[in-house]
Amino acid sequence: MLNYRKGNLFIENVSFESLAKKFGTPLYVYSRAGLINNFTVFDDALSSVPHIVCYAVKANSNFSILKVLSKNGAGADITSGGELYRSLRAGFPSKKIVYAGIGKTREEISYALRENILIFNVESLEELSSINEVATRLKKKAKIAFRINPNVDPDTHHYITTGKKGGKFGIPYSQAISAYKMAKKMSSISVEGIHCHIGSQIVEAAPFKLAAQRINVLFEKLSNIGIHLNYINLGGGLGIRYDRENPPTPYDLTKAVIPIFKNFSGTFIFEPGRYIVGNAGFLLVKVIYRKQSGGKNFLIVDGGMNDLIRPTLYDAYHEIIPVKKSLQPKIKVDVVGPICETGDFLGKERLLPWVPQDGLLVVNCAGAYGYAMSSQTEKILLHLMI
Ligand code: LLP
Repeated sequence: MLNYRKGNLFIENVSFESLAKKFGTPLYVYSRAGLINNFTVFDDALSSVPHIVCYAVKANSNFSILKVLSKNGAGADITSGGELYRSLRAGFPSKKIVYAGIGKTREEISYALRENILIFNVESLEELSSINEVATRLKKKAKIAFRINPNVDPDTHHYITTGKKGGKFGIPYSQAISAYKMAKKMSSISVEGIHCHIGSQIVEAAPFKLAAQRINVLFEKLSNIGIHLNYINLGGGLGIRYDRENPPTPYDLTKAVIPIFKNFSGTFIFEPGRYIVGNAGFLLVKVIYRKQSGGKNFLIVDGGMNDLIRPTLYDAYHEIIPVKKSLQPKIKVDVVGPICETGDFLGKERLLPWVPQDGLLVVNCAGAYGYAMSSQTEKILLHLMI
């Protein structure tokens, strides 16, 4: 996706310099080819079984990205009424939309039922009752899967660990069978599947495998008591290479988990977000000033933690690349934003040329949870004074 031509950094056939000139900075830039390629690799990895790859819209709900993915056959994994609205508008068929999230409101449930989405991933018994109630009122049958917490440690940042005992997500493993029995008795619920999502930026196959084994045990137990499932949804979470990680490929992942489900002949669902959009997105920023202070070198750029919060929130590493190749020796610099907070940085102690004022830098692999977690308060937030 990225390449230098005559010392200038390009994305595909477009120079970042020309993009900065035309659109200004800070600027998120995405590669359509990168998106399609990532989706295709994931989809192909499942070609031997019936499946739907539902893109996790939360990773980046940019409308153009959604349109590219829906056009190429992806489904959508949503977590709010807003995401449902955007997904439908972007062309995702409702039959390929799955809805997770621990706090679905009755209004959102009603909207999703009226749009006939594929399945609700139910995260609590109270939510199940609400779905049943709303569906009864609408004279609909709600198709559900339970999101099960398999108590697996995915060995990732604790903020994005979601399948360990004691977390807020899913139905505790030990309560799963009784939840299914309860759902089976509800008049407006159709029990269709099982779901789990154990975390994000997971760089080993082993936790996925362990979770799949535990889900399979439940699947078998349910079959034995006459509860047959049509969908097994193994969530998202596949990590990407930001630095020196060596994550499994989608093929490695599916090869590790699919064979575990020996007696399942229905449809597999996966919900990758980061894998699809992470390395297809870049944040282009411009150096405003340089300074040296306390023995340190600072490049002060126009993109900060409000544009990309991952470095300060998770101590996440994003490679920073100068747009102009420089023959100057590299020095250790902190790349910091303009926000009035010491936590506002994009990268610390990076070996970079002493890029001059107005020089451009590209923050790599910024497609997932970059724009989605950004805040442009002056542009979009309404202030209400009463
Ligand atoms: N499915 C469910 C139910 C999820 O909660 C998530 C992500 C995904 C799928 C997609 O996971 P992925 O394939 O993208 O790992 N803001 C954090 C990541 C939060 C992930 C939340 N859930 C970050 O910047 O690292």
